[in-house]
Amino acid sequence: MVQFLLGNERILDDYPRSPETPMPTLATIVDGLRLPNPFIIGSGPPGTNLSVINRAFREGWGAVIAKTISLDSSKVVNVTPRYAKLHSRDGSEVLGWENIELISDRPFNIWLDEFKRCKDTNPNGVLIASVMEEYRKDAWVEIIERCQGVGVDAFELNFSCPHGLPERKMGAAMGQDPEILGEVCGWVMGAAKLPVWAKMTPNVTHIEDPSRAALRAGCNGLSAINTIRSVMGVNLDTLRPEPTVEGWTTPGGYSSKAVKPIALRMVMEIATMIRKEFPGRTLSGLGGIETGGDAAQFILLGADTVQVCTGVMKFGYECVKPMCDELLAFMEKHKFETLSDFKGKSLEYFTTHADLVRRQADRKAAQKAASKVVKSDGEWSGDEFVKQSDALSKQ
Ligand SMILES: Cc1cc2nc3c(=O)[nH]c(=O)nc-3n(C[C@H](O)[C@H](O)[C@H](O)COP(=O)(O)O)c2cc1C
Repeated sequence: MVQFLLGNERILDDYPRSPETPMPTLATIVDGLRLPNPFIIGSGPPGTNLSVINRAFREGWGAVIAKTISLDSSKVVNVTPRYAKLHSRDGSEVLGWENIELISDRPFNIWLDEFKRCKDTNPNGVLIASVMEEYRKDAWVEIIERCQGVGVDAFELNFSCPHGLPERKMGAAMGQDPEILGEVCGWVMGAAKLPVWAKMTPNVTHIEDPSRAALRAGCNGLSAINTIRSVMGVNLDTLRPEPTVEGWTTPGGYSSKAVKPIALRMVMEIATMIRKEFPGRTLSGLGGIETGGDAAQFILLGADTVQVCTGVMKFGYECVKPMCDELLAFMEKHKFETLSDFKGKSLEYFTTHADLVRRQADRKAAQKAASKVVKSDGEWSGDEFVKQSDALSKQ
């Protein structure tokens, strides 16, 4: 049974560590979930069935969020092609990735069976069900209760897919309306006995507004971000936008390395809000994470855990090992023993532009004053000879 605790700072000391456990450690407890490391498979193709979820646990991922599921998969019909990639100029690297993929088109009963078998095989593996439903209380309560019944460890509520599902008033359509989102989170919290994270869409002006609504409704934590609504490009021979399906397209969701700066900004904004208004609630950051250094940046801006989706599609499940090594090396370099030692540490360096101008002007004035300390004897006045003689003795 998962213990309900908000935030990880207060309880990190309780994490069972053998005396031989080398420091630093990536192990963490978030909302009562015990993770060997903060790297979580983000909802999407890398968690699309039992076989690949088992593979993720075998490779050492800290937790797995399965592909988003709904009660009636017959309404979910995918198309091909559904991906389009932005490559670097020399073509060697994928920088951006658009998808028009929907949530899982696999039947709910099959998922329930796979969740149960997954927990039987990986009793200590943290398995998080990602769920999405229509705007009906009975549907949300049913999906939560039935997933809970087969032993998943936590929920992520998908209020954030930017394509396809919003046509049915689901996904980002809910995430963009704080009132509806708050109401749905309230339904879920009434039924859930496990930790619940609400996954935010970046396709809003102020991400704090839906985030606040989810936390007010009692969600334990948030995940940010889902994909950014996008059009990958237009084929200059056919004049058709891409990805082209039967000659047509629809705007999709953008992910991978190119979105990291936007994700970091949103994580920073949410973390700042959590600090002020909801201390102890948690945040799972994602968007373009591919290295341990990327993860460190998300944690420095307030994330408790980090998720990787497209990175796994680019580099395979094994990428978790170099990511863990790099994050540990970062911690060793700075003498951080636990993730809590540096969570949110860089938040204090954000300020307004006006303040940047003031700080720069102050620094320039101080430099100018210092360079002017040595004046000609005729310019000395009052007690200034104290400063002047000091300055002169240093030269
Ligand atoms: C092909 C693909 C399918 C996705 N499917 C889902 C999904 O079913 N549910 C969900 O919450 N997010 C889904 N996402 C979004 C990712 O979980 C993640 O929020 C986003 O891609 C940004 O992170 P990344 O750059 O690490 O991929 C999908 C992303 C991709 C690329």
